[in-house]
Amino acid sequence: MRSFQNLLVTGGAGFIGSNFIRYVLRQTDFAGRIVNLDALTYAGNPLSLEDVARDFPGRYVFEHADIRDKAALARIFDAYGIDAVCHFAAESHVDRSIVSPDDFIQTNIVGTFNLVQAARERMDRIVLFHHVSTDEVFGSLGDTGYFSETTAYAPHSPYSASKAASDHIVRAYHDTYGLPTTLSNCSNNYGPYQFPEKLVPLMTLNALEGRPLPVYGEGLNVRDWLYVEDHCSAIWTVMTRAAVGETYCVGGRCEQRNIDIVRRICALVDRLAPPLPSGAPRESLITHVADRLGHDHRYAIDCSRLERDLGWRQSVDADSGFEKTVRWYLTNPAWVDSVRTGAYRQWIERNYANR
Ligand code: NAD
Ligand code: TYD
Repeated sequence: MRSFQNLLVTGGAGFIGSNFIRYVLRQTDFAGRIVNLDALTYAGNPLSLEDVARDFPGRYVFEHADIRDKAALARIFDAYGIDAVCHFAAESHVDRSIVSPDDFIQTNIVGTFNLVQAARERMDRIVLFHHVSTDEVFGSLGDTGYFSETTAYAPHSPYSASKAASDHIVRAYHDTYGLPTTLSNCSNNYGPYQFPEKLVPLMTLNALEGRPLPVYGEGLNVRDWLYVEDHCSAIWTVMTRAAVGETYCVGGRCEQRNIDIVRRICALVDRLAPPLPSGAPRESLITHVADRLGHDHRYAIDCSRLERDLGWRQSVDADSGFEKTVRWYLTNPAWVDSVRTGAYRQWIERNYANR
């Protein structure tokens, strides 16, 4: 088991990062300190970690900083004696990357370069640099086959291309300078604290409020869904057990067409929330809209290597995971309001005015 004391988590105020920090502090035997470095873009919300800040004073520290800022990184690495990094910070939404790719290049590529460089300059004390990535770097599958650790990179969107570049930079720092790195490429996550621009929270909240449910094209694109806490346990497994230089694919063995995810959410909201004033089932809100440019057809991960070599298992199946998730959005209106009153609203109004 690899161990470290002062773990830098980048992007910890986002969806997966906030779940990861909570998971590590509440559910593992990690006894050290976590420094959460986050620029608080539209996607970062410190309210997602209010309970952690309250329950772990001293072991949880928040640093408002940007991974594009080299001087800030140097200060934070040295002030806290950082000996391990888990790197989540990124621009993460494919649709935004299509409308305005600049931040994706700067944060995902240049920001990752700044971080591995800061780690390399402190190689004597860095035990591990873990890079969190996506299955979207592999491109799109036809109706059969799976992505695995040996699949060639073939990204299509500005988002996936920027993540692919960041993966290559991290590996180059291992292969060239001996930086102790690990990587994980995961499929689509769902769960609490996800920003309501992504499919699951967007459809849940629109269904609750009786607004249209915008399904791109026919809704036949397939994603492989994993409950966020299972992604967190997979990352922790890789961080503590994998050999340096290794990559693991993480997935949920849960392929679903978008239209079926939306129907599942409609049925859950019908069951768990008051009916619409019209009495109509939420499925009647489904509206087919113009397809995403370059929309990848299918993602599916073969995660057998992670299961076989490191003993990881997912623990939340789709039935309980989607029910837990929908219940969470229905019972946390304060969090929902906090994200909806932020800069996100203005961006939506500018870019999605026609939806
Ligand atoms: P998110 O958009 O919810 O959160 C991203 C966080 O990064 C936010 O808190 C934001 O403020 C912060 N951030 C953005 N730019 C920054 C900068 N320049 N400096 C510092 N902080 C910055 O994203 P997420 O869904 O939690 O994804 C986290 C990571 O996991 C990303 O690297 C993403 O590529 C990867 N990933 C996501 C999924 C998924 O389904 N969401 C699946 C696989 C991999
Ligand atoms: P998304 O949550 O944006 O994740 P990703 O693009 O990274 O897989 O989208 C998941 C799928 O849902 C994707 O195929 C696009 C589709 N989608 C819609 O049909 N309507 C929407 O409003 C959104 C946000 C996504």
